[in-house]
Amino acid sequence: MDNELQNNLYIYTNNKLVYLIPVIIIILIGINIGFSSLIKTAYAKEIMVYKTPTCDCCKSWIKHLRNEGFNVTTKDIDDVKPVKKQFGISSQYQSCHTAKVGKYFIEGHVHAFDIRKLLNEKSDVKGLSVPGMPVGSPGMEGKNKEKYNVLAIDNSDKVTVYSSYE
Ligand code: CU
Ligand code: CU
Repeated sequence: MDNELQNNLYIYTNNKLVYLIPVIIIILIGINIGFSSLIKTAYAKEIMVYKTPTCDCCKSWIKHLRNEGFNVTTKDIDDVKPVKKQFGISSQYQSCHTAKVGKYFIEGHVHAFDIRKLLNEKSDVKGLSVPGMPVGSPGMEGKNKEKYNVLAIDNSDKVTVYSSYE
């Protein structure tokens, strides 16, 4: 019996399969990396940001979006107003920059969390807005944070509070 076991062990350790184990592990890791990058690409949302070239808070907001995994394209224009008008964002809901993600507009310093929620829920609205530039919103970091709301504006210009921050 002992001899047979020894013999079996000998065969096992001399089998080429043993040397294949690291190769198999590497392949499995490779598949895993491939999958996660695939998921990441599928999840990465394209967003186009219209802004003036000199606005620094816009740049900070874009950084926030990139950190949150968005694929941001920027378009510098001297006047963003025509874009806002095109999206039908009336003046009391306007901020510095205007972005487009999917069929929605994103006006001002909206948190990536709300943009993801909007895209996941496929909400039946025109877009989201954080009017003005409240301190404490993404890209507007600073002391003396202000309370602010993210507003959802629907196709008949009805405005509802989408989320609140303090
Ligand atoms: Cu701003
Ligand atoms: Cu801005």
